[in-house]
Amino acid sequence: MADMKAFERECEAFFRPLWPGEDKILVFGEGRSDSPDIMLIGEAPGEQETLKRRPFVGKAGKNLDEFLALMGIERESIYVSNVVKIRPTSIGSTGRVRNRAPSKEEIALFLPFLMKEIGLVAPKAIVTLGNVPLKALMGPKAAVGELHGRWHTAGNGSKLFALYHPAAIIYRRELRQVYERDVLALRDSLTIETQK
Ligand code: URA
Repeated sequence: MADMKAFERECEAFFRPLWPGEDKILVFGEGRSDSPDIMLIGEAPGEQETLKRRPFVGKAGKNLDEFLALMGIERESIYVSNVVKIRPTSIGSTGRVRNRAPSKEEIALFLPFLMKEIGLVAPKAIVTLGNVPLKALMGPKAAVGELHGRWHTAGNGSKLFALYHPAAIIYRRELRQVYERDVLALRDSLTIETQK
């Protein structure tokens, strides 16, 4: 059984000194870490995730739950994580703290830890949500618009299925149908693909 607590301690020890005096919260992955069928990888935690210290519990989490219902699988049976484990923020014009996309530097900083996490969890398949995890694992030229809905081999040899990010469906309603078709394609091919 993978020692995820030791992994989390290692992350804390590396990242804590990078932001002295700042109350940055690291949101770690959760779920089955003993070679589950799926490791789902998102971008970075948002506000709700940081408050609850759990990945995908805010708005994007709701969409994720729909995705899992469509797949007919329980959230507890998979492992869910993010590339970047802190909430990337910026200050809006009204002074409010907003989410922003993770920067290249943040992604590069967290990538070795993501690779270690994948090694520990040893999922049968990785499902990426959006461009950030897809590029992190397949290289900068990979684009979800081209690669979604199909199986690929990641740079580390993992089987990888690319999906749009659930938040993209909130902003681009025309993607909903595409997303649902992709999720059903994943459901129908998962067993065959993970047994190859
Ligand atoms: N979006 C992500 O990519 N990850 C989360 O944990 C929440 C929202």
